[in-house]
Amino acid sequence: MATLTARESKAAVVSKPAKAEVKVEVSAPSRREFLYYIWGASIVLLLGQAGAGLIWFALPRFKEGTFGGLFTLTPDKLPAPGNPPYQEASGRFWVSNTDQGVVTLYGVCTHLGCLPKWSETNFRFECPCHGSKFALNGDYIEGPAPRNLDRFVATVFFTDGTSAQMDSAGNPIPLEGKTVERIEVNTGARINGKTHS
Ligand code: FES
Repeated sequence: MATLTARESKAAVVSKPAKAEVKVEVSAPSRREFLYYIWGASIVLLLGQAGAGLIWFALPRFKEGTFGGLFTLTPDKLPAPGNPPYQEASGRFWVSNTDQGVVTLYGVCTHLGCLPKWSETNFRFECPCHGSKFALNGDYIEGPAPRNLDRFVATVFFTDGTSAQMDSAGNPIPLEGKTVERIEVNTGARINGKTHS
């Protein structure tokens, strides 16, 4: 077997092809490209925010049967005409059956937000904080409260398939001798009580 001389082996080493140098040139984005990137990122961010907002508004804020949502009352919750009101504590409202019809009263005093109680003795709502008094239908009687008790929009459904909704002024819903099947009270829709002179 032939052996390489020292000179030949050096030559062989020298003749080995040199490794090609790979130069990667990274050029900085131009001002225009940079603005495109910023613009694109802004659009993506904006679309993301809009999507999140849509989902937020599409979801119901309040569950049925919790304050701020819809309450459905069975007819046994409706007091007989002229009787003391029914209190739905979880919905913070009272249901009164007056000579003019059904009213659903927000159970918070219109003075400074205390909780008036029903007085069996005096047959009226009485606020424990500063003594405001309200009638069965929520009308102001006396005290520092500036207006009647507020009302929640309600709809009364009758067994004959008809229904009647509280008007925008919050007037009592007349029953007209019909039999009540259920009452829906929307604690997310409040009507301010009338102010008194
Ligand atoms: S909070 Fe009811 S009278 Fe003041």
